[in-house]
Amino acid sequence: MNKTEKIKKASIDEFGSRNTQEQYTKIARKGLWKSEDILIKKYFEPNSRILDIGCGSGRTTLVLSERGFGVIGVDLTPGMIETAKKVALEKGISVDFRMGDATELEFEDNYFSGAIFANNGWVQIPGYANRLKALEEIRRVLKPGSHFILTAHQRYYAGSYFFFWIKQWFKFYILRPLGFGFEELEFGNWFFERNYSDNWQRRWQFIHFTSQKEMEEIIAKSGFTIASRKRMGELSKEDAEVMQGSMTKDFDSFKSPVFYVCLK
Ligand SMILES: C[S@@+](CC[C@H](N)C(=O)[O-])C[C@H]1O[C@@H](n2cnc3c(N)ncnc32)[C@H](O)[C@@H]1O
Repeated sequence: MNKTEKIKKASIDEFGSRNTQEQYTKIARKGLWKSEDILIKKYFEPNSRILDIGCGSGRTTLVLSERGFGVIGVDLTPGMIETAKKVALEKGISVDFRMGDATELEFEDNYFSGAIFANNGWVQIPGYANRLKALEEIRRVLKPGSHFILTAHQRYYAGSYFFFWIKQWFKFYILRPLGFGFEELEFGNWFFERNYSDNWQRRWQFIHFTSQKEMEEIIAKSGFTIASRKRMGELSKEDAEVMQGSMTKDFDSFKSPVFYVCLK
C-alpha cells in the first residue's frame, strides 16, 4: 500500500469510527447551510437529477430529496452510508445512498444535471492527482451546461496559522530536499485530530488546504470553468458566525471555506 492509499484508509477508518459516526448522526439532521441553500436555489434546476458526492450521513442529500430532486448520495466510508440509510428510514423517506469513490464513478457520461461535494469533502481526498481525477469524473457524469458546487478550505496566513504554514514551508522546501521524510504528501496538507469530549478514540483526519491559484488551475485542468467563487462570509454572514464548515474555534469562517461553482 503506498502512502496515499494509507492516508485514504486511515481517513475512512476515522470517518467510520464510533465517535465520528455519533457526531454525523446529529449532523445528518442539521439540513442545509444558508450558503448552500443560496447556491442550490441559484444553480440547480428544480426536480433535476443531482449527484451528492461525499454525501456523508446525508445532511444535504436528505434535504435535496425532500425538495423533489432525484438525488443519489455516494460516499467512500461504509459507516457514513449505513448512518445515512438509517436516518432516511427514521424520517420515512426513500433515498438512493450508495458506496462509491469520487475518483471512479459508476455512472454513465452526462447522467446528472448537477452535483455537490459539500463541507470540504473534496479537499479530504489525498494527492493532487486524485483530486484532479475526482473533478474529471464529476465533470464526465454531468450534462453540458450543468453546475458542480464544492467547498475548499483556503490556506491563509493570519494569526496562529502564520506560524503553522511557515513551519510546513520549512519542512517541505528546506528539510525534504535534504532527505527528511514526512507524513504529508504536499505543501498544504494538514492532519488534525477531532476534539472529542469523551476522548474515547482520538484519531487524525486528513485535509488539504488550497490556495486560490491552485484551485483555479486544477478546476481549469479538469475542463470545468468557474461560474462563481465566494468565501463563506460573503455568501452568509450567519454561517460564518456559527462556524459552519470550520475546523477550530479560532478558524476564520469569513475567509474559509470558499465555495466554487464549476460549470461544465
Ligand atoms: C467532511 S465529510 C462531509 C459529509 C457531508 N457532505 C456533509 O456535508 O455532512 C466528507 C465526506 O467525504 C467523503 N469522501 C472523502 N473522499 C471521498 C471520495 N474519494 N469519494 C467519495 N466520498 C469521499 C468522506 O467519507 C466523508 O463522508
